[in-house]
Amino acid sequence: MTPIAHTDKAVAIAPQVFWVGALDPAMRNFDIILRTANGTTYNSYVVRGSTGVAVIDTVKENFSATFFERLESVCRYDEISHVVLNHLEPDHSGALPELMRRAPKARLHFSPQGFVMLKGLIDPSLLEGRMVTVNTGDRISLGDRTLRFFNTPFLHWPDTQCTYLEEENLLFSGDFLGCHFCDARLFNDQVGDFRFSFDYYYAHIMRPFREHVHNALDLIEPLPLELIAPAHGPVLREKPRDYLARYRGLSGSVLHGAETRTLLVFYISAYGATRRMAEAVASGAEEVDEVRVSLYDIEGSETGPFVDLIEEADALIFGSPTINGDAVKPVWDLLSSLTVVNVKGKLGAAFGSYGWSGEAVPMVEDRLRRLKLRVPVPGVKARLVPTDDELAQCRDLGRQTALHLVGRAQARTIDMAALG
Ligand code: FEO
Repeated sequence: MTPIAHTDKAVAIAPQVFWVGALDPAMRNFDIILRTANGTTYNSYVVRGSTGVAVIDTVKENFSATFFERLESVCRYDEISHVVLNHLEPDHSGALPELMRRAPKARLHFSPQGFVMLKGLIDPSLLEGRMVTVNTGDRISLGDRTLRFFNTPFLHWPDTQCTYLEEENLLFSGDFLGCHFCDARLFNDQVGDFRFSFDYYYAHIMRPFREHVHNALDLIEPLPLELIAPAHGPVLREKPRDYLARYRGLSGSVLHGAETRTLLVFYISAYGATRRMAEAVASGAEEVDEVRVSLYDIEGSETGPFVDLIEEADALIFGSPTINGDAVKPVWDLLSSLTVVNVKGKLGAAFGSYGWSGEAVPMVEDRLRRLKLRVPVPGVKARLVPTDDELAQCRDLGRQTALHLVGRAQARTIDMAALG
């Protein structure tokens, strides 16, 4: 194993292109939500051209010392003509203020969406006259080297972009196509097996933005590509296109065609009352043609598989008893897991039995609205054992929600025809 972690040397990844990042093998929890079994890397790169030097991204602030040592091994500060920030999150911009102080000739290039954020990260006076926003197709010349920019927003912040070194067919991809995996051997053909980490990173960082993933892939796939240099994890020099294909696969539809309307009913029940309500909700929804209805007892599964279903569903109905003035924990657990998928605009509803207060239903409805689901049909509560009338209300809740699904599709068709 090359002992990169114990030297301050840069690593050549292509002719006159160097990795000057930092290894963080002790990291176990990133941004609170991401776990990593062997740490992460903060990848920064230097591109030397005949008329200038560019630095692509920096590192987390407390890794600045090792970053600057590696940087100094491949260039002088007065040679640095351009700094590119593909992404402004502090794990990549932490050393930026000091870099801009040390490299007085450098101009900073970043996406238009990054402009507002940048002002919150760095003293604006330091960047006076040195900031340049770049968009898809813009280029900067380093003499015999050319950097081309691709605006790829929401991967996973609004500001994210990719930078392409044309002469080497090399893509600096930022967080996109990266992963939290720390291995001093650096290159994907030399490090340990990191497939699980690559997929995990996608699932927790990129998955809510899969339409943006598709847009970015549309931009990048046509490029000649010999190497992908992400901002975290291994440098992808062996079969780099496999990683684009993996993102295509991970971000594609996994269940069914988009033409199928799907409605999922999730419930958990202590004594059978909420289960009977759930069955009534599902049977009401089934009365509506063209809507595929599924009924799941949350108690019978881990959350993960449900999240896959939810990502592709059109309507989500949750049943929870009220216990101690609250919905029950498994329901909250499932709802909290929805932060990794885009549920905006789906239909939502709630129901459940209760003893004396029944807070669960409005609390779940409120949570659904905060997740930006639409909740067009009022929830149903039943005190203890549901009556026939309350079960009829449950059937109506399912039926009305399903009708909203079908009705929404029809309204769109009419609108399109009107536009035509
Ligand atoms: Fe690696 Fe979004 O920062």
